[in-house]
Amino acid sequence: MKELKIKKCLTCGNVVAFLDDKGGKLVCCNEPMIEVKANTVDASFEKHIPNYEINGDKIKVYVNHVMEPEHYIEWIMIKTEKETRVFYFRPGDEPVCEVPYSSNMIIYSYCNLHGLWSKNIG
Ligand SMILES: [Fe+2]
Repeated sequence: MKELKIKKCLTCGNVVAFLDDKGGKLVCCNEPMIEVKANTVDASFEKHIPNYEINGDKIKVYVNHVMEPEHYIEWIMIKTEKETRVFYFRPGDEPVCEVPYSSNMIIYSYCNLHGLWSKNIG
């Protein structure tokens, strides 16, 4: 399955995910947006990588990360062959969500300081 392409504006912090990438250049704040690659920031892998538990026909996705006002998981995204779901979090929330399980999923987490992390589930 194809990974989602995600870009960020280094000026204002806007983050966008492509629904359909046709190759055009994305510009924000008059600068080209930068592609965000998962698992490339030098930070604790264990505290950022999304984890999961499969319970029957459901999958619970969670991140073992602090949820403080200045440092927290902003969202978890779950991509399957047929859909993409995003769950947003605020400081103090528990970064956990649950969706129907299907084979061949990619789960993502996004830390406001340490960027994008992902795991493929076969
Ligand atoms: Fe972090």
